[in-house]
Amino acid sequence: MTRYLIMQKASAIYLLMLGLSFASDAKEALTDEQQLGKLLYEDENLSLNRNQSCSSCHSLKPEPKQNTFPKRVSVFIDRDNVKKGTAVSLGSIPDATGALNAPSVGYAAFSPLFLWNDEEGLYVGGQFWNGRASDLTEQAKGPLLNPVEMAMPSEWSVVSRLKENGKYQKLFWQVYGINLAAVPYINNKQLNVITPAAVTETYHHMAKAISAFEQSPVFNKFTSKFDYVLANMTEFSQIEKEGLALFNDETKGNCAACHISEVSIDEDGDVIPPMFTDFTYDNIGLPRNVKIPKNPEPDSGLGGRSDIAALDPDGNEIGKHKVMSLRNIALTAPYGHNGVFTTLEQIVHFYNTRDTLGWVPDNQDSGFATLGWPDPEISQNVNHDELGNLGLVIDEEKAIVAFMKTLTDDYPKWGKDRRVPPGTPSPFPEVKPPGH
Ligand code: HEC
Ligand code: HEC
Repeated sequence: MTRYLIMQKASAIYLLMLGLSFASDAKEALTDEQQLGKLLYEDENLSLNRNQSCSSCHSLKPEPKQNTFPKRVSVFIDRDNVKKGTAVSLGSIPDATGALNAPSVGYAAFSPLFLWNDEEGLYVGGQFWNGRASDLTEQAKGPLLNPVEMAMPSEWSVVSRLKENGKYQKLFWQVYGINLAAVPYINNKQLNVITPAAVTETYHHMAKAISAFEQSPVFNKFTSKFDYVLANMTEFSQIEKEGLALFNDETKGNCAACHISEVSIDEDGDVIPPMFTDFTYDNIGLPRNVKIPKNPEPDSGLGGRSDIAALDPDGNEIGKHKVMSLRNIALTAPYGHNGVFTTLEQIVHFYNTRDTLGWVPDNQDSGFATLGWPDPEISQNVNHDELGNLGLVIDEEKAIVAFMKTLTDDYPKWGKDRRVPPGTPSPFPEVKPPGH
């Protein structure tokens, strides 16, 4: 309740800001660097078989129509997973699959640099489910070389593909002063040749351009119903309001303990709308998803990283994965790092009854999620303090789901709300990711 009041107070500040911000359009032009990033993000030539780009698994295209969202919204995930209900993506090489569900790239730019927070005694920030890339630039260097993703053999082979494209020649020069023509092609016959410094530098700047694109308003719109409610431009329905109260209430849903729903103020005094994550790591006791092709060993998350394991002899970080943002969550099924939950109803029911419902052997069992839950895939460090037995009745679960559906962007397009008609700009166009 108190949280809700704080939000109401904050919305008065937004109203003041609105007067200033209304004129500017959220679809502001991309910078040259971001435009280069967009070309790279969508370029299938940067994968081994020239059949896959970042956009294959984090699509810029709007999602296929879904009942509750008749207008199509882009949420930067693998559309095949949504369509087919699969948990993991196919790679550039046929049949190559990983063990993890592709998260949305929307709002990923707001994750702080990966670090150990001494005050709180926990790890915060970074990219990936286990935070192993400290920021978006480091992150973007990964998928191109990952054998189950874009599968290129080396940085040099990627840079050689960049050299094929006249637009890149022009933009790398314009944006970074890099002369792609002068960078040598890879010679596959000559083994053991040391990678030239110009190749490493070009590869780094390629990742930097992608990261700049991911920081653009394309991925960070702040146009959900929730945002317009914050700005006092519209109101929640009764059930959405109840859902938010339960989401925040420490004695009820307690979701906001990790999925922060309050505004924050940055160092410059600017208001940052909530990201619905505190970017920390936890083991919520997800069951194993035995439907993933080849049923790979469970991912041990943060504590499974060799650098973290070396600092964590007691295994306190094993099984912990990043708290993901809930913005656009209604359109990014399946849920959890292994995609074991297919609907929002299911994951909320899990939070509510993980420790009280019966037991079923795995998620292929017909009683999964109705009669029982399987054991956690990693039993170490499962959080029993904040979740697992919430004592919510079914209508309360429904309200929380209804609230989460207000977090979908492009509300003016799908909301059919006279107070927020199509074309209404984002109430928060000034909010920019921190920029590392
Ligand atoms: C084959 C599918 C696939 C392709 C292609 C792909 N990704 Fe991903 N992406 C994933 C998966 C799966 C994860 C989660 C992996 C993990 O956490 O270890 C991920 C994670 C991410 C994250 C982390 C988000 C967060 O909140 O932690 C970002 C950002 C991202 N990808 C951007 C990109 C970019 C940029 C490219 C292109 C250079 C790309 N991805 C190509 C599947 C893919
Ligand atoms: C103790 C911290 C914590 C609390 C409390 C919490 N969550 Fe989460 N949530 C997480 C973590 C960590 C993940 C990712 C877990 C994983 O994949 O292993 C997550 C994942 C999710 C996801 C899936 C995200 C995705 O991209 O797949 C949803 C939806 C979600 N939580 C909703 C809720 C709701 C609703 C509540 C309250 C009923 C809640 N959470 C309470 C930490 C928390």
